[in-house]
Amino acid sequence: MNVLVTGGAGYIGSHTVRMLEKAGHRAIVYDDLSKGHRAAVKNSVFVQGSLFDSRLLAETIRRHAIDAVIHFAAFSCVGESMEKPQEYYHNNVEGSLNLFEAMVAEGVGTLVFSSTAAVYGEPETTPITEDMAKNPTNVYGRTKLAVETALAEQYSRVYGLKYITLRYFNACGADAAGDIGEDHDPETHLVPLILQACLGKRSGIKIFGTDYSTPDGTCIRDYIHVNDLAAAHLLALDALAGGHRSDVYNLGNGQGFSVQEVIDAAEAVSGRSVRRELAGPRAGDPAVLIAGAAKIRRELGWKPEYTDMKDIIGTAWRWHLAHPDGYGDKREDLGCRN
Ligand SMILES: NC(=O)c1ccc[n+]([C@@H]2O[C@H](COP(=O)([O-])OP(=O)(O)OC[C@H]3O[C@@H](n4cnc5c(N)ncnc54)[C@H](O)[C@@H]3O)[C@@H](O)[C@H]2O)c1
Repeated sequence: MNVLVTGGAGYIGSHTVRMLEKAGHRAIVYDDLSKGHRAAVKNSVFVQGSLFDSRLLAETIRRHAIDAVIHFAAFSCVGESMEKPQEYYHNNVEGSLNLFEAMVAEGVGTLVFSSTAAVYGEPETTPITEDMAKNPTNVYGRTKLAVETALAEQYSRVYGLKYITLRYFNACGADAAGDIGEDHDPETHLVPLILQACLGKRSGIKIFGTDYSTPDGTCIRDYIHVNDLAAAHLLALDALAGGHRSDVYNLGNGQGFSVQEVIDAAEAVSGRSVRRELAGPRAGDPAVLIAGAAKIRRELGWKPEYTDMKDIIGTAWRWHLAHPDGYGDKREDLGCRN
C-alpha cells in the first residue's frame, strides 16, 4: 500500500514509518517539521508540508497514488493546550478536517487516526474500556474527541470514509536499532525525563503526588512501547483493507507501573541513580490509568511484544545514550510546557 503518514517525522510517526517500510508498504511522510525532525525520516519519501496546505496535500495524494492515510500530525502537550487553546483547536481540529476534506476530494477512503487516553478524563474505574464516558479534562483531549466525533458523524456516515481510531496510553521506548527515538522539546514525558536525569542533563526528577491510594503512593500509568504501538497501525490498515468496519480501540499494555517503579527500572537499566524530588499532586491527575485493551487483542489480533518495563526502558536508554541531544536540531520557538 502507498500510505501517507502525516506527522511521520515525529516520535510515533517515525517508528510507524519504519515498520510500514519493513512490511513492504511505501510510506510517504508529510510533516511541517513544527515539532518533528527531518533526521527521523531515513529512507522514505519526505514532503515538508502543513495540514493546511490543501493544494500540496492533494498533489501529494495524487503524485504518490495514496491508498490510505495514517494521521499522527497534531500538537500534544496537555499543559500548552490549556494556555493556547486556540492553537490546539486550529491545528488539531481544523487541521484534521482539512486533511479529511482532501482525502474525500481525492478519493482516499481509508484512515488510521491517533487519538489519546486523554479523551476519557478521570475514569470512574480502571481498566478503562472504549465504551466508558468521555470527559476530557484538558483542551488537548477535547480536540482529539472533537476529531473522533467528526469522523464518526460526518466523514464516515456521510462520505463513507473507513477509519480506525487508536486511543494511545503512554508511548515510550525506541526502536532497537537505536537510531530513532523520542525527542520532544521541551520534553514532558516521564521516561525521557528520567533518562535525561540519568545522563546528568537534569538535576533529578519531580514526583507529583506521593500519597495516592496505590501501593507506593505514586501515580500508576499504562506504558506501551512505541513499536507495539506502530504494529497496531499496520494491523488496523490490514483490517480496513480486508473490509473491517470503522471502529475505535484503546492501545495500552493493560498493566500499570507506578512513577517510582519506572524510576527504579531506569536506574537498574542505566546503572545510574536519579535524585527524586517529592512534590504535591497535580490537579486532575488520577491515581491509576490503565487501558482495557482486550478489544484490539481480540478483534485485530494485536499483542504487545514489550511488557517488561526494563525491556522498554532498555530500548529508550540505548537511544538517549547514543543521542544525548536527541536529533540535535533544537529550535527556539517551541513553548510546550506541562
Ligand atoms: N506520545 C504519546 O505518548 C501519545 C499519547 C497519546 C496520543 N498521542 C498522539 O499521537 C500522535 C503522535 O504523537 P508524537 O508523540 O509522535 O508527537 P510528535 O510531536 O513527536 O509528532 C507529531 C508530528 O506532527 C507534525 N505536525 C504537527 N502539526 C502539523 C501540521 N499542522 N502539519 C503537518 N505536520 C504537523 C510535527 O511536526 C511532528 O513531527 C499525536 O497525534 C499525539 O496527539 C501521542
